[in-house]
This record gives sequence, structure tokens and C-alpha cells, in this order.
Amino acid sequence: MAVRLGFVGTGGIANRHLACAQNSTDMEIVGTCDVILDRAQEAADKYGGNAYRDFDDLYDSESPDAIVVCTPPFAHGDIEEEAAKRGIHIFVEKPVAISMEMAARVLDAVREHDVITQVGYMFRLSDPIVKARQMLAERAIAMVQAHYYMPGLPNKGWWTKLELGGGQLVEQATHMLDLGRFLAGDVRSVIGKVSTVHDWTPPAGYEEPEGGLVSVKEGFEIPDTTALILEYESGAMGTLSCSLVPQVSWDNGFKVVAEGALVTIDGANASWQSEDGEFEEAAPSDWYDTVLTQFVDAVQGKGEATIPYEEGVKSLAISLAGYESVNRGGAAVELAEILPDGL
Ligand SMILES: NC(=O)c1ccc[n+]([C@@H]2O[C@H](COP(=O)([O-])OP(=O)(O)OC[C@H]3O[C@@H](n4cnc5c(N)ncnc54)[C@H](O)[C@@H]3O)[C@@H](O)[C@H]2O)c1
Repeated sequence: MAVRLGFVGTGGIANRHLACAQNSTDMEIVGTCDVILDRAQEAADKYGGNAYRDFDDLYDSESPDAIVVCTPPFAHGDIEEEAAKRGIHIFVEKPVAISMEMAARVLDAVREHDVITQVGYMFRLSDPIVKARQMLAERAIAMVQAHYYMPGLPNKGWWTKLELGGGQLVEQATHMLDLGRFLAGDVRSVIGKVSTVHDWTPPAGYEEPEGGLVSVKEGFEIPDTTALILEYESGAMGTLSCSLVPQVSWDNGFKVVAEGALVTIDGANASWQSEDGEFEEAAPSDWYDTVLTQFVDAVQGKGEATIPYEEGVKSLAISLAGYESVNRGGAAVELAEILPDGL
């Protein structure tokens, strides 16, 4: 039986998951929801299902088996909590929340109602990265050096406000922090520094384009450049550098230094040199969709969703610890101070 899916938040990334669902015989799109009803309607017209403005109307009218939540970081909490109460399984895009209070509330609900969850950290399911992790599992990791460089600011209002999007560290670099945990295990403490280097003030007479990346933006209030130092539980050290200062290229990835091996991760691709030889592999063209298809398989009882909500909470905590360190003038912040009890 196809899994009956409801989509909540039908902006940018939702289109990717909607297209995946439309092309799969294991998924049926029964409803779309967006606070901008026209967007929900547009998605319904293109991909299927009925359009709603309120998520609880979607839940009540369509009784979906599962939802795919693609709302901005600030717009989480009730959407997932109400779904969990109704026994609706939850796929949620990263980051899972804007704050630890919000994430902890949803975590309680998904545990209490025992629904299947999956967070959209899709890099974890790229084959070359999985192989790199297997190779690293037999070695002591010394250094996890991650970066996320974006050549400008996504032209969305919530991106410019810390309390709505969480800035690049929460919103985007979370991919790298999560992948660092996937490769090297949990993080014990974080030191953070932030800066704003670029002048984001629009010139007089500036006409804002629709969408895309921009190099000036009214109301820009987030750091544009961030650096973290991470101490892993294993004793490995890590760094994260991220910046959205306008330049010419998009670049995200890692170097991992381990005993006897040096790994490079470039987007979803991986390569390494080790004493056993060299390896290089590009991700297959459909690698991105695996994070949703694996979740749907799990809802159908055909396997496990390997990136449950707890993982999203732990990865979010690293970003929040980074900001907390900034607030404390660069002092190290223990993850245990940030995480809910028991994680
Ligand atoms: N995994 C990835 O690679 C990836 C890529 C892009 C975005 N994302 C994540 O997906 C999320 C959404 O990003 P986006 O670029 O699609 O944003 P977007 O702004 O393009 O779309 C978000 C949509 O959610 C809607 N919305 C807001 N509050 C809502 C609510 N309470 N109920 C229903 N709809 C609501 C908005 O109207 C908007 O249409 C972000 O957290 C982002 O980090 C993940």
C-alpha cells in the first residue's frame, strides 16, 4: 500500500520531496499545506492532493499516514506535536527547531506516541560517505575539518533574522555538524566566534530580485561568518568554518584526518588515501531522494529510518552551543548543558 503523505510548508525544498513522491508508487500525495495558501494550491495542482492553509485541517480531512515538514526553523513545534498525537509519522527537514525548548517538546511527543521520524540530513545516506564512515570506523579519528561556504544570502526574509532562521550556523552548517557526528561520534564541547564582514546595506534605489542569492539585503541581522572549535567525545578535534559573504562559488565538505587515512568529502562525494590504497566515488544521481524513500520504507514496515528525531536534536545542540559560547565571550560550552535530559 502506498504511504499517504501530507506536505506542510510547500516552498523551496518541498518541491524536491514532492517530485520524489510523485514519481514513486510507494507514495501518494494526499494534501499540501502552507500558510500562503496559493503556494499549497500550486503544489497540489502540480503534484496532487488537496490544498490547506492549516496543518490540523490537513490532518483531520486527509488522515495522512505521514507528513513531510518543510517549514523554516521558527515554524516547528505544533506541526510535529499535533501529528505525533494523531499517530502520524514525521519526516522533518533540518534543522528540527529554532531552540532547544521547541525541539525538546517535539521529542517528548514523538517518544510518547511512538511515531517513526526521520530528519532530512540527506548527506548521511550518500553511498560514498557511508563507505568513508565504514573505513573510518576501524581507525582513531584525529581531526574533522568542515566548511560550508555559500556565495551570498538566500533571498528569504526569515534567513536574515536569528530568531526566525537561526543564521547560517543553525540553518545550513547544521548539515556539516550532523555529518561530523555521523563520521566521528558525539561532540562534548564547542567554542564559537562569529563576525559580520560584508556590508549588506542595499544601495539607494536597489530593486530586490525574486528569490536566488543576494549580496545586499534590508534588515540583515545575522553573522555572515562563523567559526567553531569542536571537541568530540572520542578525543578527536573538529572545526567548522562557514560564511555567506558574497563570492563566486558554493563549497561544502570535510577533511578527516585519521590514523593511516586522509579523507576528503566534497558535497555528497568522498575520496581518501590510506595505507590500503586510494578510493574515490561520486554519489549516484538519485542520492538525495534516499532520505525520504528510506523513511517511507520504514513507515511501510520494510526497514528502519536511520536519522530519527533524536539525531536532529543532538546536531541542533551543537549550533546552539556555538552561539552560547559566543554569548559567553568564547568560553567552551558543554553539550550536556544544552541537550534535554537523557540525550
Ligand atoms: N536538506 C536540505 O538540503 C535542505 C535544502 C533546503 C532547505 N532545507 C530546509 O527546509 C526548510 C525550508 O526551507 P525552504 O528553503 O524550503 O524555505 P521556504 O521559505 O522556501 O519555504 C518554507 C515554506 O513554509 C511555509 N510556512 C511557514 N510557516 C508555516 C506553517 N506554520 N505552516 C505551513 N507552512 C508554513 C512558508 O510559507 C513557505 O512557503 C528549512 O529549514 C531549510 O533549512 C533543507
